[in-house]
Amino acid sequence: MPGFELFGDAERKEVNDVLDSGVLMRYGFDGMRNGHWKAKELERELEKRLNVNHAQLTSSGTTALNTALAVLGVGAGDEVIMPTFTFVASFESILNAGATPILVDIDDTLTLDPKAVEAAITKKTKVVMPVHMCGSMADLNALKEICDKHNLYLLEDACQAYAGTYMGKALGTIGHVGCFSFDFVKTITCGEGGALITNDKNLAIHADQYTDHGHDHIGNNRGVELHPVMGYNYRISELNAAVGLAQIRKTDEFISIQKKNKKILKDALSTIPEVSFRRIPDEDGDTATFLSFFMPTAELSLKIVDAFKEFGIDAYWNYFDNNWHYVRKWNHFKDLKSLYPLSDHIKNGIQNLNELEFPKSDDYISRNISCLIKLSWTEEEVKQRAQKMVNAIKSVLK
Ligand SMILES: Cc1ncc(COP(=O)(O)O)c(C=O)c1O
Repeated sequence: MPGFELFGDAERKEVNDVLDSGVLMRYGFDGMRNGHWKAKELERELEKRLNVNHAQLTSSGTTALNTALAVLGVGAGDEVIMPTFTFVASFESILNAGATPILVDIDDTLTLDPKAVEAAITKKTKVVMPVHMCGSMADLNALKEICDKHNLYLLEDACQAYAGTYMGKALGTIGHVGCFSFDFVKTITCGEGGALITNDKNLAIHADQYTDHGHDHIGNNRGVELHPVMGYNYRISELNAAVGLAQIRKTDEFISIQKKNKKILKDALSTIPEVSFRRIPDEDGDTATFLSFFMPTAELSLKIVDAFKEFGIDAYWNYFDNNWHYVRKWNHFKDLKSLYPLSDHIKNGIQNLNELEFPKSDDYISRNISCLIKLSWTEEEVKQRAQKMVNAIKSVLK
């Protein structure tokens, strides 16, 4: 998955442009920058590649989510529906907005279950936030229909699914707003960075302002710019954007390597009747960053995890006991361990996470094994790996 695996002269050249000019900031210093505007250039490349009207870079995927919620006007008293399986940042961004995260079950897509979403809608619901986990998408047609019916915003957390598509459209462009992460372990990396995309001009203007202390970015004298709204510093640096600019040009190469490697592994595992695969609503749009499969029971999955270790296979997860990605171990959220007092809106609105049970999510996550697809494997290595995986699984099933 990570773009950092194929890293080299192109990234160095883009970074050196920035170092040579000495302008590490994305705004201002027009005369000194030798014409280099790496962040702006990367935004235009994202717009072109994703066929979307507006891209706003941010310092991370987390700040992209913070910005997305802000521009959608989400705040105190609002509820945002999110899945039990995601990265902690989805939950954090909702709390950061002063809003209330409402956790609901996932289904065999490993993303939001549309039926669970519909059942969780209240008068306070403002946003549905599907998270396209492990490189593949949620059931977006069903979720969009629900959002349209109930007049809700659809915010796609596509942080793990840059370059994925759904029915021919880029992930992140189906909802009102989409967010990406370009942190060190994502499909393409800036080192640290993220982006918000939208086709809505007003949302884009607010995102541009919000991520830079509310600056209106009108004219070329930063010192006299006005602040139509409040904002924060969620800016990406030119150095990070420069790395991303070299990486984005490798997108097609990365995705095609991942698809080739994943197919070899999936074909091999398909020969085992006990193995079933994660449902991908649009297979063509999969980024192939992971191969995710289910065993019939949690017990078998755990045994296979052990067998993979024994057979020398690396880079796979059963997320049931994972601290970052699955609700079961989010103890700091369950106990609301905030460094500062949380608002009454949050305290009164939040589900009692210590009491809540998610048997359906538990079932899918406990039976799931997700294997990372690397870019740097040779074809021979992937074939050997596939054979080892088959042998390991069969050793457990025999
Ligand atoms: C689903 C999801 N959302 C948000 C983020 C946050 O991105 P970042 O690490 O760039 O802040 C991540 C990062 O792993 C993620 O996986």
